[in-house]
Amino acid sequence: MDAEILILPDPEAVAHEAARRTVALSRDAAGSRGRFSVALSGGSTPGHLYRLLAAEPYRAQIPWGEVHLFWGDERCVPPSDPGSNYYLARETLISRVPVPPGNVHRVRGELEPGRAARAYEQEIQGFFCDPHGGLHARFDLILLGLGEDGHTASLFPDSPVLAERERLVAAATVAYQDRPAERVTLTLPALNSARQVLFLVTGSAKASIVQAVVEGAGQALPARRIQPAAGQLSWLLDADAARLIGG
Ligand code: 6PG
Repeated sequence: MDAEILILPDPEAVAHEAARRTVALSRDAAGSRGRFSVALSGGSTPGHLYRLLAAEPYRAQIPWGEVHLFWGDERCVPPSDPGSNYYLARETLISRVPVPPGNVHRVRGELEPGRAARAYEQEIQGFFCDPHGGLHARFDLILLGLGEDGHTASLFPDSPVLAERERLVAAATVAYQDRPAERVTLTLPALNSARQVLFLVTGSAKASIVQAVVEGAGQALPARRIQPAAGQLSWLLDADAARLIGG
């Protein structure tokens, strides 16, 4: 796999490294392009990062007026539902920083999944505004997590969405743990157009799947299919998640 892999001692160190990188990328993007677009992830891992970004010293270093928040995926529940990825970000980050409300481009999880997907795709298209009217996205940063089955965002093994070649957003139905099954997700074309993709993976429960994704062969696992065509791919792992690799 053509990726930077950084192994850090614990989840705390992973969150700090991700926060430092987010600060640097936000300043760089705002300085050179006037805005910073980041797609947040859900799940339990990124909450720590979001809390760090909302606190000093990171908070004061981020040009919040130029930050645009998107999501890599969303569960189809209302925004006030604790199962919503937007809800996680609102509680830990958005409500604590001066990001303009108009810069929060959430997936409308309260809609029927197909409609939510189309509405979100239009939101992305409007933001990136391809002069030729085509579907196009180039996020400055996409944060991703890794599921124990190799999924990332809401791209699950054997999902028909993996075959998508044109749309930026798709609806998906998946049963995973006790999480909401109806989802909306960025597709591979959208994810692989990013300038930077950053996976955050911690904990020993992820060790086997990290090994399969990082050292395995073939392209079967969804997370292995994240290979930004003109961008950088980085994995931040804690020692527990990385314990089976490189040995
Ligand atoms: C979601 C996700 C999903 C997540 C992984 C890892 O909404 O469920 O965005 O892809 O990142 O399932 O989740 P954990 O961090 O909880 O292990």
